Amino acid sequence: MSDRKVIAVIGATGAQGGGLARAILADPDRRFAVRAITRKTDSDKAQALAAAGAEVVAADADDQASLTRAFAGAHGAYLVTNFWEHLSTERELKQAAAMARATKAAGVVHAVWSTLEDTRLAFPLDDPRLKTLHGKYKVPHFDAKGEADAIFAAEAAPTSYLLAAFYWENFIYFGQGPHKGADGNFVLALPLGGGKLPGIAAEDIGKCAYGIFRRGPEAVGQRFGIAGEVLSGPEYAAAFSRHLGVPVSFYDMPFDDYRALGFPGADDMGNMFEHHAILGEEFRRNRSPELARTLNPALQSFDVWLKANASRVPLG
Ligand SMILES: NC(=O)c1ccc[n+]([C@@H]2O[C@H](COP(=O)([O-])OP(=O)(O)OC[C@H]3O[C@@H](n4cnc5c(N)ncnc54)[C@H](OP(=O)(O)O)[C@@H]3O)[C@@H](O)[C@H]2O)c1
Repeated sequence: MSDRKVIAVIGATGAQGGGLARAILADPDRRFAVRAITRKTDSDKAQALAAAGAEVVAADADDQASLTRAFAGAHGAYLVTNFWEHLSTERELKQAAAMARATKAAGVVHAVWSTLEDTRLAFPLDDPRLKTLHGKYKVPHFDAKGEADAIFAAEAAPTSYLLAAFYWENFIYFGQGPHKGADGNFVLALPLGGGKLPGIAAEDIGKCAYGIFRRGPEAVGQRFGIAGEVLSGPEYAAAFSRHLGVPVSFYDMPFDDYRALGFPGADDMGNMFEHHAILGEEFRRNRSPELARTLNPALQSFDVWLKANASRVPLG
């Protein structure tokens, strides 16, 4: 049996945790072993992880006891919630608290919590610059994660905090990529308020998380806000033009128009973009490509990511 320290990875079948699991397995020094936590141990993704050398263990973030069992004997734990599966801040907060408490109960040495800002610290509920949603949030999928930080600080194993940027995969899966306008020309429409949007290749988030685990105790208590590159709307559109083989222009969509798009969570996402635009540099300095590169020297720029992924961007 290997004596390598185990990192238990929530979300190992997903984007963030998957990137971390692959980074651990690809390390030529084989410093750590992966324990992939999933609700469905027989899924294709879970089986692929097992085939690549991960231990696959069942647990559910809605069931704290299952997490404690799954974390037993692990040195590290990577903790990510998936707000978009249920769109419930209450459930996300409960899952985060269960993960936090389970790391402590299991004696985990180093937890990495995938969090985001509680935007209500910069925009109290009575601040009219950003609409209040559901009576108590400004950017629900940020706020619930940020609110959970205090639970990690007080009730979890020693924790590092990782703040990811907008995934460039949203251009593939989330309908955020260029669309054909009424005049037949391609347009990238995002509400950036004239500002820049920090973005990252999803795979690089896990590689950065691995960098945090490799740093060990010195990383405890620290916040790591990461990005692959920070680009303006016209800069994103110019990169699409170069790699998609068609001219793409940028349309800086009004925030209210974006919130009115009608997909589940459109108001939340619209507020997120508006939050970034109002704070500007104050937000962007918390998403640093330089910091990310110290954790993950292979960090991709948007150009590098798009060169490899252009054929996956649907041109609708
Ligand atoms: N998209 C962006 O631009 C962006 C940027 C920053 C942060 N985020 C945040 O990233 C989070 C999602 O992470 P992701 O993109 O890595 O997710 P993902 O690719 O959609 O995968 C979700 C993962 O979570 C696991 N999971 C979900 N519910 C679970 C539960 N109850 N118990 C155990 N595991 C559970 C799933 O595992 P099984 O299904 O195998 O059980 C799966 O591995 C969201 O909260 C989002 O707010 C997104």
